[in-house]
Amino acid sequence: MNNFEFFNPVKIVFGQGQIAKLAELVPTGAKVLTTYGGGSIFKNGVYDQVKAALAGFEVVEFGGIEPNPQYSTLMKAVEIVKTQNIDFLLAVGGGSTLDGTKFIAAAAKYEGADPWDILAKAAPVEDALPLADVITLPATGSEMNGFAVISRKETDEKLAFYSTKVYPRFSIIDPTTTFSLPPRQVANGIADTFVHVVEQYVTHPQEATLQDRQAEALLLALVEEAPKVFARPNDYNVRANLFWMATQGLNGWLNVGTVQCWAIHAIGHELTAQTGVDHGRSLALVLPGMWRSQRKEKGEKIVQLGRRVFGIAEPDFEKALDLTIEATIAFFKSLGIDATREAYGVDETVCRAVAKMIGDRGAKLGDRGNIDGDKVYEILQLCD
Ligand code: NZQ
Ligand code: ZN
Repeated sequence: MNNFEFFNPVKIVFGQGQIAKLAELVPTGAKVLTTYGGGSIFKNGVYDQVKAALAGFEVVEFGGIEPNPQYSTLMKAVEIVKTQNIDFLLAVGGGSTLDGTKFIAAAAKYEGADPWDILAKAAPVEDALPLADVITLPATGSEMNGFAVISRKETDEKLAFYSTKVYPRFSIIDPTTTFSLPPRQVANGIADTFVHVVEQYVTHPQEATLQDRQAEALLLALVEEAPKVFARPNDYNVRANLFWMATQGLNGWLNVGTVQCWAIHAIGHELTAQTGVDHGRSLALVLPGMWRSQRKEKGEKIVQLGRRVFGIAEPDFEKALDLTIEATIAFFKSLGIDATREAYGVDETVCRAVAKMIGDRGAKLGDRGNIDGDKVYEILQLCD
């Protein structure tokens, strides 16, 4: 295990009825900008709960943050923050609304010429407005991390940044808010969580026993709970369990002291930038191609996952590896995700564009740093 520092300041406020606690969690006297997406919060009652809890505050609202939040939309919110002297941001919605709000928080305080540099040039975030969230979609783990992923359709870019300054001050997770999720978003969230764990676990053996076992526990729990949410969508405990899994999938606990992969995400983000495919689905598409291409590099951990999570008993290593890939695809299919290039419009032009985008950046992806643009093209050919 490598040396590490661990940082996570997020206060989690979990459970039914917790949105009312906003009244005491938001700093007294703050002028609040609430941010939201395309309107789900109006249909499921979350907006009303937030409005009631913030009755004692001066509140400005900013809606219309898209799935895969767009830079141009977010910059409109930055303008409002500046002209209306906002001093606290509250994201209400899914990971896109929260990620967008993290960017608004950083861009509003950015002193360089172009806030896009935070994403494109990793310009340091020296300061950011304080932010918090009421998260309504179990998927990204954004509610307990310092990452945000922002898109720019003008240039077909989708880029991430990390800063210690944009961790939420608190995150309210009320699992009942997820009852209104369409099955497609439920499936996307489970696939996203699964792949977050995979990016941290399916690397090369690193003798990080606890982190391995934590990852396996998360995957086992996910595989156990996933069918229940489709069979019993109104079961509170199933929703609660899935949300807590999503939060823990990307809050930093699984990867302390280890080298991670994140190549599936890097390729998935480019696919979304090119085709608009949902984030979770892009990952379900890329994963089999990644594992088929990286049999040598990732084989030991793939088989370990197969044996410990899917219970694969096949003694032959190569066969066990294939069976693990098949079991993972079957798991995605059980969620209703039948990921094929054709279904998602990933044709030859898209494959080449994605490979070029990553190649031109000079990226060497993966825990081994062996995945360049050419390799990305090869991986995409092996996806289905
Ligand atoms: O926009 P509204 O109307 O709110 O509807 C949303 C949206 O259409 C809807 N939704 C959310 N909560 C709902 C609901 N509908 C009914 N009931 C509810 N309770 O779901 C749709 C998708 O929402 P979105 O926020 O886009 O989904 P998700 O949370 O999966 O976020 C995806 C984004 O997060 C990024 C992705 O790349 C993508 O841009 N990621 C962020 C990460 C992070 N910050 O750590 C890591 C991830 O790997 C990921 O890259
Ligand atoms: Zn993800």
